[in-house]
Amino acid sequence: MAKPKRITKAVFPVAGLGTRFLPATKASPKEMLPVVDKPLIQYAAEEAVEAGAELLVFVTGRNKRAIPDHFDRAYELENELATQQKDKLLQLAQDILPRSVTCVYVRQAQALGLGHAVLCARPVVGDDPFYVILADDLIRAQPGVISQMRGVYEQTGASVLAVQDVPRSETSKYGIVETDGFDGDRGRIVSMVEKPAPADAPSTLGVVGRYILTPRVFEKLEQTGRGAGGEIQLTDAIRDLLSEEAAWAYRYTGERFDCGSKLGYLQATVEYGRAHPELGAAFSAWLKEQE
Ligand code: G1P
Repeated sequence: MAKPKRITKAVFPVAGLGTRFLPATKASPKEMLPVVDKPLIQYAAEEAVEAGAELLVFVTGRNKRAIPDHFDRAYELENELATQQKDKLLQLAQDILPRSVTCVYVRQAQALGLGHAVLCARPVVGDDPFYVILADDLIRAQPGVISQMRGVYEQTGASVLAVQDVPRSETSKYGIVETDGFDGDRGRIVSMVEKPAPADAPSTLGVVGRYILTPRVFEKLEQTGRGAGGEIQLTDAIRDLLSEEAAWAYRYTGERFDCGSKLGYLQATVEYGRAHPELGAAFSAWLKEQE
């Protein structure tokens, strides 16, 4: 096998309405919800950059201005902090991303689903393999899950999807994959279905929000009609790809917080608070007092 192309592009679908967090998400995007002191989208961007991404493609929608603002320079704030000689804070405001990283914003005019959002990135991604990260799946892992998956991609040259075992009662929240068995942490996907009812699910292996995809998926997305929930589903396009290309399910190492749900978001806040370099000790002590 020829050496697979190096991946330098990452796509972040961020056009969702975030209705589960209303009213917090009425005027600001759910991806800007902070876990302790960083917005979800920054954790996602850092994970991509750690795995070698140099071009970050955000597929945005209405009410998402805060995202480009977050990754942009904030001259007024920087001037103010510089004048007050608040060097540490100034550095925090300036070092959101390494200077070598470029952000591109593509607008998804209509919320037609995750598959449609990924297709909106096609003019920027072109004929290259790419990462997709869903920022509301926050995964604490060392190295990050996308870096772990890159290892599988480098060995196979194929698409890779992060998966985890989910309770059968929850299959209707996930894309569910069926594999021909696992060799260590990976298994070749033989079929997949978006959000099946528990009785119809071919397995209990759920896809979490990390994908490495080959550009051929765009061709499939062009032909994908509306699926589960009346939306154009990424899962359906990847399933259509399986007759032409291999795709791997990868059981990642790490701890996932479903920050698309209030409970998962609270759990993430507690766990990241406990581990925070400055607050961790005091916060853990306070938590203990509450027991
Ligand atoms: C999306 C995908 C689904 C995947 C999930 C992971 O669903 O469509 O296949 O399992 O993300 O979080 P959503 O949660 O956006 O409805």
